[in-house]
Amino acid sequence: MKSKFSPYVPRPATLVAKKELNEFVTLFEFAQDSGKPLAHRPGQFIQVSVYGVGEAPFSVSSPPRTDHHHFEIAVRKIGSVTNALHALEVGNKIGIRGPYGSYFPMQKFVGQDFLFVAGGLGYIPIRSVLHYMLRHRDEFGRIILLVGTRNPGERIFTDQLAEISKRNDLEVFETVDVADDTWKGNVGVITTLFPKISINPETTSVATIGPPIMYRFVIQECSKLGIPQDRIYVSLERHMKCGLGKCGHCQINGINCCLDGPVFCYTEIAGLGEAL
Ligand SMILES: Cc1cc2nc3c(=O)[nH]c(=O)nc-3n(C[C@H](O)[C@H](O)[C@H](O)COP(=O)(O)OP(=O)(O)OC[C@H]3O[C@@H](n4cnc5c(N)ncnc54)[C@H](O)[C@@H]3O)c2cc1C
Ligand code: FES
Repeated sequence: MKSKFSPYVPRPATLVAKKELNEFVTLFEFAQDSGKPLAHRPGQFIQVSVYGVGEAPFSVSSPPRTDHHHFEIAVRKIGSVTNALHALEVGNKIGIRGPYGSYFPMQKFVGQDFLFVAGGLGYIPIRSVLHYMLRHRDEFGRIILLVGTRNPGERIFTDQLAEISKRNDLEVFETVDVADDTWKGNVGVITTLFPKISINPETTSVATIGPPIMYRFVIQECSKLGIPQDRIYVSLERHMKCGLGKCGHCQINGINCCLDGPVFCYTEIAGLGEAL
């Protein structure tokens, strides 16, 4: 029998908290009105509808919870939907569809060391994977986090990064492309952090998310360290409409980023070259 529920009909969720992360990016905590957990996997995204404005995809930034119906997204103001989201107040309702897309295969990483390379807003989805690992800390080996931002004013999750940097079971390195008077840390693009780390290429997997230009250089650095491409995972962001593999909006050379991605093992997309 056919389900009476259409995958295109959003479910209601209520804004329970919002926090500015910088001038343009805000963190939103929503609760599903159904009271059920979102049941996403790290790396997946949801389609968010602001009623009367439109719908847009956002990565789920919080780690999966089986005991809680709250979840977080972090959104940069750029156009109609994102501005409307920023204007929401606690208690307002949105619609959500999903979670959609591929995810990081966490079971494969059990017992492995892990290197995160997060550029700019790429830290938003990486946060879901990282905090999953920190919650299940005993299951993973060394965890190294590299974070790069264009300038100190664009850094996000600064309080949380300061907090987790104090842990002795996590190695955090941060850089900005261009410094100002407030910045005392590393200056340079994210690849300038690679000489600061030592890893065992036999046991290390990588998740890298950031602007497309970053991938080529990060992959080169990983190759220099001897990490094989089949242990490097990336997430690709493309304009999306349906999120269900139907409309073709997110296609790159026959790959549907919404359905086959957004998370890919690098070997699956290495052939896309410039189209990346
Ligand atoms: C899988 C996935 C996950 C995403 N996760 C996040 C996230 O966690 N946080 C976040 O802030 N954003 C995320 N995005 C991007 C987000 O979906 C877009 O910023 C949003 O759709 C813009 O909607 P809008 O109506 O505000 O802008 P519009 O009014 O539609 O567009 C405003 C301007 O932004 C450009 N634009 C719109 N979407 C994109 C895009 N995806 N890439 C580049 N330029 C774009 C348009 O061409 C236009 O110039 C994600 C996108 C995808 C596909
Ligand atoms: S968004 Fe419609 S096919 Fe991917």
